[in-house]
Amino acid sequence: MSSLIFVFLIILYFIDGVLARRSREVSFDQNYKVIWGDNHVVSLNQGTEIQLLMDNSSGSGFGSKKNYGSGFFHLRIKVPGGDSAGVVTAYYMTSQGSRHDELDFEFLGNKKGKPYILQTNVFSEGEGNREQRLRLWFDPTQDFHHYRILWNQHQIVFFVDNIPIRVFKNMSNIGVRYPTKPMQTQASLWDGDSWATDGGRTKINWNSAPFKAYFQGFDVKGCEVLQDSSDIQHCASHKYQWNTPSFWQLDPVRQRQYENVKTRYMIYDYCTDRKRNPTPPLECQN
Ligand SMILES: *[C@@H]1O[C@H](CO)[C@@H](O)[C@H](O)[C@H]1NC(C)=O
Ligand SMILES: *[C@@H]1O[C@H](CO)[C@@H](O)[C@H](O)[C@H]1NC(C)=O
Repeated sequence: MSSLIFVFLIILYFIDGVLARRSREVSFDQNYKVIWGDNHVVSLNQGTEIQLLMDNSSGSGFGSKKNYGSGFFHLRIKVPGGDSAGVVTAYYMTSQGSRHDELDFEFLGNKKGKPYILQTNVFSEGEGNREQRLRLWFDPTQDFHHYRILWNQHQIVFFVDNIPIRVFKNMSNIGVRYPTKPMQTQASLWDGDSWATDGGRTKINWNSAPFKAYFQGFDVKGCEVLQDSSDIQHCASHKYQWNTPSFWQLDPVRQRQYENVKTRYMIYDYCTDRKRNPTPPLECQN
């Protein structure tokens, strides 16, 4: 008898956990809106999952309703499988207007059976050309994985499943521009076959369309600002956890993971591309 009750309690405990997790999932509409390709965006699971589609008529995209001045942003993403050469899935932060700031994750599709490449880039005051490219240690078409961007006054860090893959430090003290403008978070699925795969030589196979990317995790950990606000200083406040000292630099464990990613998975780094940058850009010099 008592063991029956025990089993019953265990079951209750699990059901409760599942329900709690469900209800904590924030729906897309709360923080995001469709910004491109309206009829190519599909809402799934009570709006807690979004499917972006691309066919030969259009790609699609969405963005945050608000603008942010700092934060620890994230989405869970599953990129298009099969023959995805030339198809780009992007998750990024961007400011509006001229001399813009932008932080990019770009998943570069590939021919069936060939691995995706993950490209990142950082623009500050309109200046980009800071591409890095990685192979991933898993197949991003099979499951959802977590992609995160930490942005505070000290550093910008790109994470894949909690592993840092890129760090852009605030080196304004030596003259490297650092993002200062309110940014929106956006995601999109688009035709990048002029450049994305084999330098643009491998084109999209439209027989494999429609291409489908999936997104989850629509809660936003960010400091809200108005788009035209020049004052984002309040977003440096320590009332936001991502601004506190433990987020100012990687801890030793994360630093080791980051070094490991750089040696084992990085296949291109603008910092070491001597053809493009005979003298390494300032931010690469330490
Ligand atoms: C786009 O795809 C549809 C369906 O596969 C096809 O019928 C149509 O001809 C295509 N249009 C173009 C411009 O290629
Ligand atoms: C970058 O760091 C400097 C201190 O070195 C600080 O004064 C400045 O506000 C930071 N810039 C941004 C955009 O957070």
